[in-house]
Amino acid sequence: MTHKKQAKVTLVGAGPGDVDLITVKGVKALASADVVLYDALINRELLDYAPNAIKIFVGKRKDFHRYSQDEINEIIVKNAFEHGHVVRLKGGDPFVFGRGGEEIDYVESFGIETQVISGISSSISVPANLGVSLTKRGVSESLWIITGTTSARQLSDDVRLAAQSSATVVILMGMSKLSEITDLFKEHGKSKTPTVIIQNGCTENEQVGLGTVDTIVEVVADKGLSSPAIIVIGEVVKESVKFRSFFEEINQQVIEKQRNLS
Ligand SMILES: C[S@@+](CC[C@H](N)C(=O)[O-])C[C@H]1O[C@@H](n2cnc3c(N)ncnc32)[C@H](O)[C@@H]1O
Repeated sequence: MTHKKQAKVTLVGAGPGDVDLITVKGVKALASADVVLYDALINRELLDYAPNAIKIFVGKRKDFHRYSQDEINEIIVKNAFEHGHVVRLKGGDPFVFGRGGEEIDYVESFGIETQVISGISSSISVPANLGVSLTKRGVSESLWIITGTTSARQLSDDVRLAAQSSATVVILMGMSKLSEITDLFKEHGKSKTPTVIIQNGCTENEQVGLGTVDTIVEVVADKGLSSPAIIVIGEVVKESVKFRSFFEEINQQVIEKQRNLS
């Protein structure tokens, strides 16, 4: 008689898309997985770390059945009881707008052993990859990471609060509400605040739109940027060595305009 493997679920953060931006602990978990359930935003090369595992895609993608969160929860538990060690591989960090907490709660309710292995969230690593330090001495003392779209499909009220602060504001899932977002910042006197939009950050398909609160909607339209992207609004954006010359040029244009007017 074969001995049935003990059910276990490990929630692993896959990082932002660069295959090397996963933790060593995450790789070790994949190596011992019997089943890997993975999302759309993870780098598929990571699945090579789990050569013996059954791989099941449960992400949202055009032309695929879109699993509800309840269905995903059930698939995790079913596979853990049937096969043993399930690795639930999620983009970025599972606990940063990743619904990882809901999955762990559900799995725990069956008495299944769980473990959480943090990942590198896109909210921090995608700007970092372009030299944007989200906090910087003398420039930004705090950081808000906000979802653009709440469970009620509305813009989070926190965006209005963040617009009134001097914090760096990072917005995930906010591309469909970009005009609303920039309007809020304009209302609070932030029209000239440096802004960057990074689509598919930390991947070979990375695209960047650079501007200020009052120009970024146009930049996005011109460049055809869309999701998955993160929006970073804050003075730290112009501190990046990669973006400095762009903002120096804008500054120069403003000075020349003022000179011509006087
Ligand atoms: C459901 S949230 C998951 C966030 C994830 N848990 C994390 O920590 O990165 C998905 C959103 O994260 C952002 N995102 C994830 N990966 C990204 C990437 N490589 N480049 C830009 N934005 C990304 C986008 O705003 C996307 O719509």
